Amino acid sequence: MQKQIRKAVIPVAGMGTRFLPATKALPKEMLTVVDKPVIQYIVEELVASGIEQIILVTGYYKRAIEDHFDRSFELEYRLKEKGKEEALSEIRRLSSLAKFIFVRQPEPLGPGHAVLMAKEVVNHEPFIVVFGDEIVDADPTRTAQMLSIYREYGKSVLSVRQVERQEISKYGVVAGKQISPDLMRVERLVEKPTPEEAPSDYAIFAHYILDPKIFDILEATAAGAGGEIQITDALNTLAKEDELYAYAFSGELYDTGTKLGFLKATVAYALKNNDEEVGTAFREYLKKLDL
Ligand code: UTP
Repeated sequence: MQKQIRKAVIPVAGMGTRFLPATKALPKEMLTVVDKPVIQYIVEELVASGIEQIILVTGYYKRAIEDHFDRSFELEYRLKEKGKEEALSEIRRLSSLAKFIFVRQPEPLGPGHAVLMAKEVVNHEPFIVVFGDEIVDADPTRTAQMLSIYREYGKSVLSVRQVERQEISKYGVVAGKQISPDLMRVERLVEKPTPEEAPSDYAIFAHYILDPKIFDILEATAAGAGGEIQITDALNTLAKEDELYAYAFSGELYDTGTKLGFLKATVAYALKNNDEEVGTAFREYLKKLDL
């Protein structure tokens, strides 16, 4: 019988070098889009889809992420004293969103290595991996879309998007049999192909539903790799050993780990906001700009 997905692993131990100097002392996952850190959008999306355990793979200087999801008795006490009930309930809600587990990645050896750090906590269950710096504006959410494919096939699923040919060499690309316009049975993956070599236009984005056998594969990959452990290599092995699907999710994706992606997310989420000050006044402000 198909197992229910209860756990999500979010690697947040990267150095964020594309967003320096902002990310020198501040984790990029804590950068704020309108009024919430990026990581909170990601966690809330997972929780809304029934994920109970959030495993954050953190590293050096990422303490702020742990504190954000922890209780803060002093802050709660002060808010209560000042009668700020709304802020108080929001702060309490945050720490009880899910069961948070933090594991450390001692060295930033890549997202594949970070996922491997969660092996003992995930145990032998299928699980979700999402990166801590990508947010997707979609209805239903990307997590809900991915879970519905998992419920249908009961096997590992990768999220993919069609990208322009000239952009393709930035990504891991899937190749395989098209099952429907949005779904492919993956036979192999190619990391950063040239536009001529690319076997398809579908690039992998970091929302994966994975069978726990990925851990043994990552371990074997780790043994051979000198530097970073690429998750694409491990997924390639998974595609050979088991059924692996790629789903072209719908929605707008923002890579907030880059300056441009972060700015786009800020504008998009501010315009979505119903709050008078942010939504309405910001829209008016943008309209007046002489671009
Ligand atoms: P990125 O490759 O986008 O993160 O990894 P990075 O290495 O921090 O970014 P740049 O290229 O230096 O700017 C995607 C996710 O994986 C995590 C990151 O924190 C991010 O959420 N990650 C990355 C790890 O947990 N460990 C790593 O060794 C690398």
